[in-house]
Amino acid sequence: MAKINPNYKKLPQTYLFSEIARKTKAFSEANSGVEILRLGIGNTTLELVPEVIKGLKRAVEKLANVRTYSGYGDEQGDIRLRSELVNWYKKSGVALNEQEIFISDGAKPDAANISSIFDQKSIVAIADPVYPVYLDANIIGGKKIIFLEADEKNNFIPKPPKQKVDLIFLCSPNNPTGAVANKKDLLQFVNYAIKQKSVIIFDAAYSEYITDNSLPKSIYQIPGAKKCAVELQSFSKSAGFTGVRLGWTVVPKQLVVEGKGDVNRTWNRRQTTMFNGASNIAQEGGFAILSSKGRKQTLKQVRYYMENAKLIKKGLESIGLKVTGGENAPYLWVKCPKGLTSWQFFDKLLTQAHVVSTPGVGFGKMGEGYLRFSSFGHRENVMKAVESIKKYLKL
Ligand SMILES: Cc1ncc(COP(=O)(O)O)c(C=O)c1O
Repeated sequence: MAKINPNYKKLPQTYLFSEIARKTKAFSEANSGVEILRLGIGNTTLELVPEVIKGLKRAVEKLANVRTYSGYGDEQGDIRLRSELVNWYKKSGVALNEQEIFISDGAKPDAANISSIFDQKSIVAIADPVYPVYLDANIIGGKKIIFLEADEKNNFIPKPPKQKVDLIFLCSPNNPTGAVANKKDLLQFVNYAIKQKSVIIFDAAYSEYITDNSLPKSIYQIPGAKKCAVELQSFSKSAGFTGVRLGWTVVPKQLVVEGKGDVNRTWNRRQTTMFNGASNIAQEGGFAILSSKGRKQTLKQVRYYMENAKLIKKGLESIGLKVTGGENAPYLWVKCPKGLTSWQFFDKLLTQAHVVSTPGVGFGKMGEGYLRFSSFGHRENVMKAVESIKKYLKL
């Protein structure tokens, strides 16, 4: 008889965002007419920029004509897009070639799938708190997991593990804390990984939010990283492609693991077997994002969201809340006052100020006692939410 993979039973029972939705709906139904103000989910809200719309339309027009129609493309992605990404990395001083870049339908699927090419018995270290997909995917894959704790004491940047591990999942700028690892922090991880022959999976989905030029946007800005790191990237948060779906994963040729294991070749094998390439329409959009006009227009949106982050930070600090993040990342990490738990403070904000946030505990044990605020809203809603907190929240 068929059986479900028993590891699914080991996953946390409730998914964070469905619990938030349930609580918000219950409050809304019990208080009809009350406007709910959302600073919770990290979904983008601004419309796509004109240059990208042009690119997407161009792709649709091509599909409408028998002479320019295309079906399946290369599983690794359109070579023109990969070449543009090589140029994009060059601007940060990172030299890659097209064969090291694999276009994807977003960073999340690759974050979930990457562990499958490594040994079943791998020990995996995962930053805590962090975007939940790394943990859940490795639980499902039956890997042994340890946590790298991030808290106030280490400015929410975890240290390399004390024990030997095989894979390390890092995210910088971090979701949910908004903390960004500096070059020294990442060098410690790269040195550790080279020494222990482990592989770092570095999620840089929010790199475009880094405004401080001294902070690394790519792990390959760290010497030695090509020998030990895979990088996950996405157009979701930098260009509003959360719904369009497009990202990429970098697997350097120099990355070789035990037993002459060629990671690039293995990932290529995995992708050509299990993935049929990203949408050709989305890829034409990605090409437009990377054009000079596209870059200008999308970066303007990033600045808009960062302006929201500033407003939220200023407002929350003005009533005495302790806030970190939000300077090189779209997320703010707010300490719950008076020893409240994440969910207690979430409830208080919802019922008193009608503001929806995200409980930090949903991102790992170390997130308990914090809330995540997202700056991905429209300005007038963000301002309304901040004013409501200042006026109605009783601390
Ligand atoms: C750290 C991080 N990586 C990846 C993603 C998802 O990226 P994508 O939309 O490209 O799948 C998110 C989405 O919130 C994220 O926070």
